[in-house]
This record gives sequence, C-alpha cells and structure tokens, in this order.
Amino acid sequence: MSRPLPSVFDQALASAVRAPSPHNTQPWRFVVEHEVVEVWLDRERVLGVADPYGREARLACGAAAFNLQISLRANGLATVVRLLPDPAEPDLVAVIRLDGNEKATAAERKLAEAVFRRHTNRRPLLDKEVPPLARAALKSAALHEGGQIEYLDASGRYTPVASLVRQAEALQADDDQFRAEAAFWTHREPESPDGVPKSASGPPPYGPGIVSLRASHENHDLPAREYEQEPLLGAVLTRDRGPHAEVRAGMAMQRVLLTATAEGLATSFLSQPFETTRTRESLDRLFAGAGQPHTLLRIGYGYPTRLTGRRPVHEVLTHRTTAG
Ligand SMILES: Cc1cc2nc3c(=O)[nH]c(=O)nc-3n(C[C@H](O)[C@H](O)[C@H](O)COP(=O)(O)O)c2cc1C
Repeated sequence: MSRPLPSVFDQALASAVRAPSPHNTQPWRFVVEHEVVEVWLDRERVLGVADPYGREARLACGAAAFNLQISLRANGLATVVRLLPDPAEPDLVAVIRLDGNEKATAAERKLAEAVFRRHTNRRPLLDKEVPPLARAALKSAALHEGGQIEYLDASGRYTPVASLVRQAEALQADDDQFRAEAAFWTHREPESPDGVPKSASGPPPYGPGIVSLRASHENHDLPAREYEQEPLLGAVLTRDRGPHAEVRAGMAMQRVLLTATAEGLATSFLSQPFETTRTRESLDRLFAGAGQPHTLLRIGYGYPTRLTGRRPVHEVLTHRTTAG
C-alpha cells in the first residue's frame, strides 16, 4: 500500500480536534507513528469536579477517534480501530491503523463534511417535531457504532429524567466547587482556543422549563427568551459499562451528532445528572434493563450558532519515529 499523503493525516487530525468535549476542555493527545494514530486521554484536562472518573472525557476521546476514522474513510482509506488495547496503558483510548484502500461511501463523505459544521446549540429550538425518518437515522447511527439511542418520549422515561436534570442542575448551582470549575471554563472570549465562549451560550430562559440547560452557560447579555416546550431527548446507551463502553459510547454519540448535523438538526447536551452521584445512580436505576446511559442529547431544529475554538493540532500531536 502506498503511504498516505501527509495532508490526509493532517485533515484527519484537524477533524479529530473538532470533536465536542465537556466545557471544550479537549482532553486528548494524539501520537502518529507511520500508519498508526493513537488517541490518548489527557488527564490534565479532565474536569476534576464534574468528571472525576474521566467518563465524559472518554466520551470526548471516543468522539475524536470517530472523527479521525471518518475523515480517513472519506479519503478512501480503510481503517482498523482498537479501543483501550493495552491494559497497562489505560489512557491509550484508541489506536487507528490504516488498512489499505477502500472507496468511501456517499454517507461517509457526508459525515466527514458534517464534522466542520457540527456544534452545540444552546439557543432555544423551534417547536417543530423531529420526523420519524430523522429519528430512525439517528437510531441507526448509534447502532452502527455498537451503541443505542433511546428517545425518552417513546420509552416513558421523559418525566423522571427531566426531573433528574433539574435536580442535578440545582445541586450544582448550590455547590461552590462546581460553580468555580464551570466559571473557569465558560464565558471565554470568542477566539479562545478552549473553554466555552459567550457566543456559544444561550439567552437566559424566560421561566423554568421542563428541562434546564446549564445556568453556567447562560449569556446574560442577551434578553431572556422562551425555550421550546418539550425538546426531543435521546439517551446514548451501551449494553456494557466501564471505560471501554464509554469510548464506544463516545463514538456512537459522535456518529449520532454528525448524522443529526447532516439532517439539518441542532443538538446540545444535558450532562448534569451524570455529574452528581445521587442523580447518576438514579439514572442507572431508571435505565436498568435497557442499557448503561452515558449522555443525554437535546435534538431539534434551530438556527446555527458560531463554532467554538480549538487548540491547534501541533499542540496536541507528537510524531513518534521508530529508531533504526
Ligand atoms: C460528554 C460531553 C458532555 C457535555 N455536556 C454538556 C452540557 O451538559 N451542557 C452543555 O451546554 N454542553 C455540554 N457539552 C458540549 C460542550 O460544551 C461542547 O462540545 C464544547 O464546548 C465544544 O463546543 P462545540 O460542541 O460547539 O464544538 C458536552 C460535551 C461532551 C462531549
């Protein structure tokens, strides 16, 4: 097989860093050696208060691995992906090896393009239903990566999960450590290479809604607005739990988000209940029998907002050269 052109790897790494991450912490590093790219968890960038076990950071690394893979695929390269391949290196999240050439499908090219348009939309969404075909497309996207998306309106879990989101939001609003961590990473300038800029925040809600977005992300320079009544909520699940399942869930989540972008849908996250012990345990109990919940997505139609910054690839990349 001919060596991939450097620009193909450059493009794949530029795609990788466009992945979403909690508070835009970008908890990843990449190592390129010959025809292999490794994705490493960067412990220094794991949120100590909201994510002490690195679950959300592993979701983010899984999303970065998915972006890498889909970009290589869109360029006609076949890949073999191994997740957490070395028990002695728990921070080595994924290894992506090139495996010859294989023509990209139109669907793969569409997802690879969506990487550079996908963003978290915290603004009010339109009160317009997501049609069954689009819902089905997101379901297939999750299944394709070994995950599952469960729509809460269909499963009867909407009200209890929405209540856990509100409970967790209230607990965090009352906790100095949560507030300090969120304050550090939010309300950044638009050009900030990490963290969440004000331009990516939504207006404060007019009144309490059925789900609460993070108060820490509200932009109080904007006038209060009415949010949609009952957004479509989808929980990303896997059959198993633990680090491997978290990386897999991150890949499934990212395929869902990119499929949503390609379908013209806006997405955002409601992670608060995963971040406080009591609400996380309640979530686990609520989904017992259905799977392990990893993240909660709000999905609907809205007006696109600005993309947020990223650290440049060279800051997160090491080239390893084998001696001899
Ligand atoms: C695992 C995970 C959890 C997240 N949780 C939230 C959340 O609870 N609220 C929120 O507004 N954004 C959340 N985000 C979105 C990030 O803040 C966002 O990805 C980051 O700021 C980069 O912006 P972008 O998604 O627009 O590229 C989460 C992202 C990930 C990957």
